[in-house]
Amino acid sequence: MVKAVGYIDGEIDVLENIKVPVLDRGFLYGDSIYEVFRTYEGIPFMYDEHYERLLNSASLIGMTVTHTAAQIRDAVMATLAKSDVNAGEDIYVRYQITRGSGPIDLNPDLSEGNRLIIIVKGVPKWNQSYYTNGVRLAVPVLRRNSVTSLDPNIKGGNYLNNILALAQARESGADDCVMLDANRKVTECSNSNVWFVIGDQIVTPLRGNLIGLTRKTLVNLLEADGVDVLEREIDCEELKNATECFVTSATREVMPVISLALEDRTQVDFAPGGGPETRRAMELYQQMLVNFKRDNAALALF
Ligand SMILES: Cc1ncc(COP(=O)(O)O)c(C=O)c1O
Repeated sequence: MVKAVGYIDGEIDVLENIKVPVLDRGFLYGDSIYEVFRTYEGIPFMYDEHYERLLNSASLIGMTVTHTAAQIRDAVMATLAKSDVNAGEDIYVRYQITRGSGPIDLNPDLSEGNRLIIIVKGVPKWNQSYYTNGVRLAVPVLRRNSVTSLDPNIKGGNYLNNILALAQARESGADDCVMLDANRKVTECSNSNVWFVIGDQIVTPLRGNLIGLTRKTLVNLLEADGVDVLEREIDCEELKNATECFVTSATREVMPVISLALEDRTQVDFAPGGGPETRRAMELYQQMLVNFKRDNAALALF
């Protein structure tokens, strides 16, 4: 089984031995950005797209990324080499760049330089019933950070907004949250994008969320299959008329939603295992992965 291993400043060890200095700005202030990618049969999935998104996060926080995509790949490879990973095991890679250490002072100019941290482990194994039945979502009172305060497209090391919203949803008995913005428009879940079928149309929120790479991939797959996807503003009132709902992320892929509790405690129920459009999305995604593995075997890292 793959061993969880970490990397920090060139040092590689089992994860529990990897320590972040207390003056690291990522630790002190959440002043960091990160990406997570996974492998299928050893092949990194969307490696370049993740690095592009990292650069976008960096530009949104005025950080200069000093590590190239190739340097990060080399560091990931060196980390992987210590993980005892076997061919066929799927791994999860999180790489994070903090603005490094410095004095206890908010001024980012005082940073001593970026720090690269990598975590390699097995991919999370989601509860199988989330796929055969679905996840239960709830809309919490807490609102998603506005695009003009902390843009959700900064994939950064500060997830307090999402953590608090998730905690509220879980307190109400749900598995995850669907956050609204201050104008009661739907944004996203705690760490995945959310989709609905409303009036026979597949819709997903246009703004206020991280543009997930899984979401981008699925929009293309659905459109290539002749299904129109509308990326638009979705008012929370519309959710009462939703007939299907699912979520997407790199580790979840496409996961059906079984129920959605709204703020006024109305509950919208969906078909166990997903309705027809959700199942189509799940199948298209799985088929894409079969082709991806077949066509990219030469790119396997192990
Ligand atoms: C807040 C948030 N939204 C959406 C996503 C989904 O993004 P992706 O499909 O690239 O995994 C994530 C994944 O980490 C996330 O943290």
